[in-house]
Amino acid sequence: MHSDGPLVVAHRGSSYLLAEHTLAAYEKALAEGADGLECDVRLTRDGHLVCVHDRRLERTSDGRGPVSERSLEDLNSLDFGAWKVDLPESADDLVAAGRDLDYRRPVVDDDKVRDAQRRVLTFDRLLELFVDSGRKVQLYVETKHPTRWGGLVEQRVVASLRRFGLLDEVRTPDVETSRVVVMSFSPMAVRRLRELAPSLPAVMLFDGIPRLYREGTLPFGATIAGPGVHVLRSRPRFAERIHAAGNKLYVWTVDEPADIEFVTSLGADMIATNRPARLLDHLQRT
Ligand code: G3P
Ligand code: CA
Repeated sequence: MHSDGPLVVAHRGSSYLLAEHTLAAYEKALAEGADGLECDVRLTRDGHLVCVHDRRLERTSDGRGPVSERSLEDLNSLDFGAWKVDLPESADDLVAAGRDLDYRRPVVDDDKVRDAQRRVLTFDRLLELFVDSGRKVQLYVETKHPTRWGGLVEQRVVASLRRFGLLDEVRTPDVETSRVVVMSFSPMAVRRLRELAPSLPAVMLFDGIPRLYREGTLPFGATIAGPGVHVLRSRPRFAERIHAAGNKLYVWTVDEPADIEFVTSLGADMIATNRPARLLDHLQRT
């Protein structure tokens, strides 16, 4: 990890340059030197965990309908890379990303590369990459659709982490040393995660700050507050309260220099960004 500043967490991988939640986007984030990898997880119809943000398939694949109504085999036949046509502005970015100017053509005619750029990413495949990376990097796992399936997504996440040796059954949560951090916008999901995996630090995500938490205390043993940068813009004092309560501050999604300046001035401990290389570069220069 880099010096004393905030940790740089690659949001959905290096997702400004490459299609979000693809293996290629995470490999890129590791190559760029990110301190953490963020991913969203949901369940397929047949109970597999996949890294997909949206409830439905339309935005990030050539499929249609809810992810949860498709089997993993169905999802494997879809293209999760071709939608990413909003190309970065400079040719340098493209070269850095290893992308052809026409992304609809694979960069090289190689099945492995095509899979990395276009195939749906299972949570287990991401864990494999994470464990094999050999780098000191953290994984920030966000469970989606908390009310559906009665907590099955949290159970499956914890089971996968255990299978990959990423759960320490005895340790109490320590965000400085933990390899994995769990998160949700749903207090109910945070509670389930804390019950299932008490050794993992948890982020309570906020899209607005409920009155209950305005003084900086968090529910169910979460020790990290995760407001969006827009939330802090309207309530910057929340950062102080979080720290005064002994909690950490994780802010998403911070790509622009003005936002970077703003959240670092508030003492953010972790910053989630779609552009890890740019954020790392900015932090090194300041
Ligand atoms: O890292 C937290 C952030 O990802 C929460 O928002 O909608 O991008 O999952 P969302
Ligand atoms: Ca997320």
